Amino acid sequence: MSNNYQKPSIVKVGHPLYTKHGSSAQSYHFVRSEIEGVSVSDLAEKYGSPLFVFSEKVLREKYRQASTAISRVYPNFSFGWSYKTNYLNEICKVFHSEGAIAEVVSQFEYEKARALGLSGKQIIYNGPYKPLESLRRAVSEGAQIHVDHFQEIEDLEKIASELGTRITIGIRVNLNVGIYPIWSRFGFNLESGQAWAAVQRIVLSSKLRLGGVHSHIGTFILDASAYGRTCSILTEFIQRIETLTGYPLEFLDLGGGFASQSHLKGTYQPPEVAVPRVEDYAAEIGKELGWLAGREPSTKLFMELGRHLVDDAGFLITSVVADKLLPDGRRAYVLDAGVNLLYTATWYKFKVELDRESQGAMEPSTLFGPLCMNIDIVDDAIMLPRLARYQRLILSPVGAYNVTQSMQFIQYRPAIVMIREDGNVILIRRADTLDDINRMESC
Ligand SMILES: Cc1ncc(COP(=O)(O)O)c(C=O)c1O
Repeated sequence: MSNNYQKPSIVKVGHPLYTKHGSSAQSYHFVRSEIEGVSVSDLAEKYGSPLFVFSEKVLREKYRQASTAISRVYPNFSFGWSYKTNYLNEICKVFHSEGAIAEVVSQFEYEKARALGLSGKQIIYNGPYKPLESLRRAVSEGAQIHVDHFQEIEDLEKIASELGTRITIGIRVNLNVGIYPIWSRFGFNLESGQAWAAVQRIVLSSKLRLGGVHSHIGTFILDASAYGRTCSILTEFIQRIETLTGYPLEFLDLGGGFASQSHLKGTYQPPEVAVPRVEDYAAEIGKELGWLAGREPSTKLFMELGRHLVDDAGFLITSVVADKLLPDGRRAYVLDAGVNLLYTATWYKFKVELDRESQGAMEPSTLFGPLCMNIDIVDDAIMLPRLARYQRLILSPVGAYNVTQSMQFIQYRPAIVMIREDGNVILIRRADTLDDINRMESC
C-alpha cells in the first residue's frame, strides 16, 4: 500500500450534496475485494471491465424466502417470473428451476419463454400491446391472458370466433391505494367504473369467460400496508363480480412491486426506515385474503415479483478511467460504465464499494460514465476518498431493469457472468463485438 503525499484542498460544498435533511451524499464505507468469494480483480482481468456479475446463491435465496413467506399466508400460490425485469436466459432458468412460471409483456418475451421450454400454460401474457398474431398463438397454446384495454377484448372475441372456442381471460385493473402516481395507464380503472364496465362487457360476451383479476400497484413500494389495502378492495370487487357471474373466479394476480435493497434518489430514506421484509408484505396480503384462501376450491394467487428477486443478486464492476476537477471544486471521475448500462441510475442511488483501500480525505465527488453525452451521470453526489486511475468500483444492487434496458449506445455492451452456488464462474453473455452490431444492417 503506498503512502503518497496528498495535497490538502479546500472544497466548496454545493448543491446537491446538502438538503434540509443534511447531507444527501452517500459516503463510501466499504471495500469489497470479492463477490461470493471470487476476487473482483480476477473477474475483471478475465472477463474485462465493465462486467455484470450475478450471484446464483442470492437469486435462489431471495426466491425461496419470498415463496415461503407468501405460501405461509396463502398456500395456493405461484410465482410468475417477470421477464422484463431481467430476461437473461440463465436468470430465467434459475427461477423456473425453483418453480416459477413466466410473466411476459410482449411478443418477444412470449417467444423467449417458449424457447426456454415453457409451455403456453406456464405463461401469463400481460402488457398493453399484444400483436394479434402473438395473441392468437398464446390463446391456442393455453396461456393466461390479462386484458389491458377494450380493443384487446375485441381482438380476443375475434380469435375465439376463428378458433370456435370460448377463451378464459383475466382483467387488469388499476386502483387508488395511496401509492402515487397511480399507474392508471394500465388496465381498467376501478374508481371511475371503467373496470366494472369491462367486467360486464366480458361477462356478457358469448366468446369470453372471466377467469380472474389482476393488478400491479407500482414498483419499489416501501409501504407494505398498500398490499393490504389492495387485497381488501380487490376482494370486494371479486365478490361483486361473482354475484354477476354466478361462479367463483379462478385466480387473483397481485403483480409485483416489493422493494429491493436499493435506494430511491430524492427521498430521505434513513437506515431505520428500512425496506419492508418480505414477511411484512406477505402478512398484509394474508390478513385480507383469508376468505379466498379458505374457500373450496380456493382461488389461486399469482404474483410476479421482479425487482425484489433479482436486484440484490446483481453487481457491476467498473473502472476509473480518468479524474478531473470541475469548476465548482468537485472531484469528478470518468468510469467505463454509465447510463448505457445503468438505465436505473436516473432513479436509484447505487451502493459504491471500492476494490481496495484508498488514501486521502473524503471529498464530494461525481461519477460520470464513458458516453460523450451530458446526461451520462452515475452518481452526482458521493463522498469518496481519492481514487486511482484504473481502480475498480463495485456498484450494487443493479440486477433489476439494467441489463434488459441497457443500450448498445456509443460503447459495446460488456460481458455478463454468473457465480454458481458452488463458486464456479460461468459466462452467461459475452461482450458485443463489431460484427454483432453490424450483422443486422443490410447495406
Ligand atoms: C405487470 C407487471 N408485473 C410485474 C412487474 C414487476 O414489478 P417489480 O419489479 O416492481 O416487482 C411489473 C413492473 O412494472 C409489471 O408491470
